[in-house]
Amino acid sequence: MAELKQAPAGASAGEKLLNWVDNRFPATKLWNEHVGEYYAPKNFNFWYFFGSLALLVLVIQIVTGIFLVMNYKPDAALAFASVEYIMRDVPWGWLIRYMHSTGASAFFVVVYLHMYRGLIYGSYRTPRELVWIFGCLIFLCLMAEAFMGYLLPWGQMSFWGAQVIINLFAAVPFVGPDLAILIRGDYVVGDATLNRFFSLHVIAVPLVLLGLVVAHIIALHEVGSNNPDGVEIKGPNAPKDANGHPLDGVPFHPYYSVHDLLGVGGFLFCFTAVIFFMPEFGGYFLEFNNFIPADPFKTPSHIAPVWYFTPFYSMLRATTDQMVTVLCVIVGVAAILNLIKGKGDGKTKVAALVGAAVLIGLLKTFEAKFWGVAVMGGAVVILAGLPWFDKSPVKSIRYRPDWHKIVYGVFVVNFVILGYLGVQPPSEIGNIVSQVGTLLYFGFFVLMPFWSQIGKFKPVPDRVTFKPH
Ligand code: HEM
Repeated sequence: MAELKQAPAGASAGEKLLNWVDNRFPATKLWNEHVGEYYAPKNFNFWYFFGSLALLVLVIQIVTGIFLVMNYKPDAALAFASVEYIMRDVPWGWLIRYMHSTGASAFFVVVYLHMYRGLIYGSYRTPRELVWIFGCLIFLCLMAEAFMGYLLPWGQMSFWGAQVIINLFAAVPFVGPDLAILIRGDYVVGDATLNRFFSLHVIAVPLVLLGLVVAHIIALHEVGSNNPDGVEIKGPNAPKDANGHPLDGVPFHPYYSVHDLLGVGGFLFCFTAVIFFMPEFGGYFLEFNNFIPADPFKTPSHIAPVWYFTPFYSMLRATTDQMVTVLCVIVGVAAILNLIKGKGDGKTKVAALVGAAVLIGLLKTFEAKFWGVAVMGGAVVILAGLPWFDKSPVKSIRYRPDWHKIVYGVFVVNFVILGYLGVQPPSEIGNIVSQVGTLLYFGFFVLMPFWSQIGKFKPVPDRVTFKPH
């Protein structure tokens, strides 16, 4: 047994209690490691608000979710009415429900901005690869969580959205139809689907999500935070004070705990404005068709997922037979270019050529609908490869060639256009634009090993740039 430490003479009752706890649980040690003595770079800007805001929204969703479950009925015959009951009869039920529904969209706004910060400052680069990978897994969980939560009010969009998306899984070769039945728990979306989605939405996925968020933060605190300059403040050559603390860092508490309060204030201002003045947000946060109870005999004229899924939904719709042919041509041309100009030896070049031939064969064998699903899933999974795609000699966008900023700008505009098109009913021109957009989206990642090295890079300073204010 470890020796019990004595509280110093004259310690207050509170200090004695803490000493008692510390002898049995590392409360002070954990606090110091992760808050009180966690040194973060002193040049954080507003982009660094979004990690703590994501934590805030996570707490809001869990707390409001707990209260919703107290009155919600996961039964196809009762679900819609129970949500109406929460909105009309349960004291403050409307507020709890609007906080939860607005919270879902706010989560994605915050997480998209948080991910974009990682992208522009190269926060996914060595040694933060695992921070990024945990982040990608969080993003996948978040998508699953939002998708299943959307079925619960059992409105028309809940029902038909789930119907469309689950049917996609039926396109997976060999196991597809069984997989779709497994997800639905029935041959059609029904009570069994609602029950399993409820169970997964309220307990299974949140548990995994919480575990991943803890892993995300532990991994980050192991290696230390990046910053807008991409300078390592804890590296072996970084300047440190007599206690070994980085000179370019400040303790998270009180400096960033107070700084983050500003972000929380700004966020709560926007969040409450939406909740109190426009909770449906023009049909983007709560779709109008979802105020009509689910009717399996009446398909809405236009089915669209909620805004945060629409960039990926556009890529799914863009994958037509024509698009698969374009993909075959791209794979073929890439393999031939590799054969002529590639750096590998003869063996690897031939292997790449054979691989490309097999891929083209597969692309032509399975139906376009399946490839649509693969493209949609691939669009999320490809994010995890960023630490290995980016070969730029500097991390932060600040020290990259100016034209890299244009590339990032085009990437964002393209993502927004894809999102916009995903909300619109299908059209011929929209389809072509989404196809080009899908190619641009994947091109950004697949060609990154090449373009990220090209251009004139600016010298990275030894110390972070910081103006006291
Ligand atoms: C529930 C969702 C999430 C929560 C609660 C969360 C929380 C946090 C927190 C508190 C930080 C430290 C503060 C900061 O740097 O802003 C952080 C950093 C980071 N997160 Fe997340 N995160 C989430 C999702 C994601 C996702 C989806 C990704 C990427 C796919 C991601 C990638 C990163 C990276 C790369 C860092 C380090 C940034 C740096 O040091 O510059 N996170 N996260």
